[in-house]
Amino acid sequence: MPSSSPLLRWIAHRGGGSLAPENTLAGIRLAARLGFRAVEFDVMLSADGTPVLIHDETLERTTDGRGRVCETSDTALFALDAGNGERIPRLVDAARLCRELGLLANVEIKPAAGHEVVTAETVIRLAGELWRTAPDQVLLSSFVPEAIVMARDLAPDLRRGMLYETVPGDWLDFCRRVGATALHCDATQVDDAVLREAAAHDIPVLCYTVDVPEIAADLLRRGVAGFFTDRLDRFASQAGA
Ligand code: G3P
Ligand code: MG
Repeated sequence: MPSSSPLLRWIAHRGGGSLAPENTLAGIRLAARLGFRAVEFDVMLSADGTPVLIHDETLERTTDGRGRVCETSDTALFALDAGNGERIPRLVDAARLCRELGLLANVEIKPAAGHEVVTAETVIRLAGELWRTAPDQVLLSSFVPEAIVMARDLAPDLRRGMLYETVPGDWLDFCRRVGATALHCDATQVDDAVLREAAAHDIPVLCYTVDVPEIAADLLRRGVAGFFTDRLDRFASQAGA
């Protein structure tokens, strides 16, 4: 059974949000420096099958490379500049850093299209090893339902959250079936009926991406448990909560 200890309220999105190159070790270090105790990052496979931190299926937006991540070898990938001279980190490097800094890691399984099963299986097995002695310090999530089913089956001790842009009518059935410990969803789309249902079943709701303190306060009042933010600077004073 996954831990039932409470999740943290403030989660740095894509490592250091918009204040550092996204999905980099520099971002994770910045989050820790600003007092955050949890970070989210996206994980995809390279052409060699190595889990690496990157959001897009293609390299152009966040690196000086070109082409698809899943068609790029490790050698080529790790030579790229991911912003300010940062390299694309491997999941093992990010996990080590999070463990050193005492950060909870929300590992978002982000498969390239057509690579769903292999990505989920590789990332979940590796996360199980990397956090074997600290299963409380990792939370798996994905927009891909089969990844969460696999998380339940392959790493039952790790917490898992189902991620939705628009929360579907059957979300609760699915979350109960897979033993999801949280519902992750788009802050602009979450409605009060979902929040009521989640509260009634003791399922915390975590919303992305919340960068405005007044919006965060309003969502908290409505029952949202936590936030992913790109504006770490605006929430730094409360980030240890
Ligand atoms: O996990 C929450 C959030 O990161 C989902 O959206 O596109 O930023 O990965 P995205
Ligand atoms: Mg993400």
